[in-house]
Amino acid sequence: MATFPIRVFGDPVLKRAAAEVTDIDGKFVKLVDTMFDTMYEAPGVGLAAPQVGVQQRFFVYDVGDDPQILINPRIVETAGEWLYEEGCLSIPGMAFEIVRPKLITVEAIDLDGNEVVIEGDELLGRVFLHEIDHLDGVLMFDRLDEVQRKAAIREWRRRELAGEIRADADHAL
Ligand code: NI
Repeated sequence: MATFPIRVFGDPVLKRAAAEVTDIDGKFVKLVDTMFDTMYEAPGVGLAAPQVGVQQRFFVYDVGDDPQILINPRIVETAGEWLYEEGCLSIPGMAFEIVRPKLITVEAIDLDGNEVVIEGDELLGRVFLHEIDHLDGVLMFDRLDEVQRKAAIREWRRRELAGEIRADADHAL
């Protein structure tokens, strides 16, 4: 099983917006397979391409149903609010309670090149928002208020210096 190393906070690739996917060819399908292996090995429930250093707009996920991929996703509608403690494979070991919309409708392309419209509620909706953030170069830290964000980054630096960074977050995205 081939896997990619997962990029963690501090890697500049995580702060850049990714480019639209233009070719769904054999090479792309192989890349997607390796992304799935990387996500399951982590383990995580979602993984966006920039997290493995690939600057393309797609992410893979599995919230317990089946392995899924959304390519060039766009949020078309959101509703409600939901508080969830998010983890991120790129910020391993740390989790934050973040309020975001509860129900999210996304338009995207699937691996066969077909347009799909998909609704995500609660955890699935959270995966969509979190992974699309990754495609825009936005991390969980950016979703905290200024005071929380500074404290969280200080704690990350402390753990980094102490050699305490480890991938142990539950349901990490
Ligand atoms: Ni993440």
